[in-house]
Formats: sequence, C-alpha cells, structure tokens
Amino acid sequence: MAKQNFKGVIALMTVKGGAGKTTLSACLAAELHRQGKAITLVDADPQQSLTAWHQNGEAFASIPLIAEADETVATKAKEASKDRIVIVDTAGFANRAPLTSSESYWSM
Ligand SMILES: Nc1ncnc2c1ncn2[C@@H]1O[C@H](COP(=O)(O)OP(=O)(O)OP(=O)(O)O)[C@@H](O)[C@H]1O
Ligand SMILES: [Mg+2]
Repeated sequence: MAKQNFKGVIALMTVKGGAGKTTLSACLAAELHRQGKAITLVDADPQQSLTAWHQNGEAFASIPLIAEADETVATKAKEASKDRIVIVDTAGFANRAPLTSSESYWSM
C-alpha cells in the first residue's frame, strides 16, 4: 500500500467468479492486521465465503466483520472507513453492491 497511513475502502471487485477476491480479502486483512493497522472486513457476497473464513481462522478473531450484501453496503463501508481500513469482498456475479459502491470505493 502506497500510503503508510491510508484509511479508506479497498473493494475487491470483478464479476469473474473464482478470481481470488475472497482469498485476497482475507490475506490482505490478516497481513494489515499483523502490521498493527485497524481493519474492518465487509462481506458483500451473499454466498458469504469471507464470513466462513472469518469464523474459522484464528487470524481473524480480533478483526470485525460486517456481512451486508445489499446496496446499503457502500454507506456502511464508507462510515466504517473514517478511522480504519475497510476491505470489501464482493460477489463473483453482477449485483447491486458493487454497482452502488463504484462511485465511492477504491477498487483493485
Ligand atoms: N478451500 C479451498 N480449497 C481449494 N481451493 C480453493 C478453496 N477456496 C477457494 N479455492 C480456489 O481458489 C481460487 C480463488 O477462490 P476465491 O474464493 O478466493 O475466489 P473468488 O473470486 O472470491 O470467488 P467468487 O467469485 O466465487 O466469490 C478459486 O479457483 C477457488 O476454486
Ligand atoms: Mg468470493
């Protein structure tokens, strides 16, 4: 990450299924947390694969997770990102969450 004190939303987006969004979301969150950064994870995929990682991995025990797959996700993520890094995992198919978030998110 270019900025040492970056706070904001990082959304992992592509409508190609199985590209690695959830894996990268989880790994990024675990590494940034290890570096001492304040992180919140947002699971915007109705399949909730990130929630499953979160429930099963020790590395995630102290990282808060918001599971929200409807269009309110953009507002919730933006709100949470005022004082922390918010990592949003999106669905591998077209739905409202990435559409509403595309104006206000950084994406990669
Ligand atoms: N537990 C697992 N064991 C083996 N391979 C896995 C496992 N979880 C994911 N994979 C594989 O790793 C790759 C990336 O999966 P990942 O779930 O991160 O992609 P994704 O972009 O989040 O998928 P989706 O679009 O379905 O949300 C895929 O090829 C997937 O099949
Ligand atoms: Mg996924």
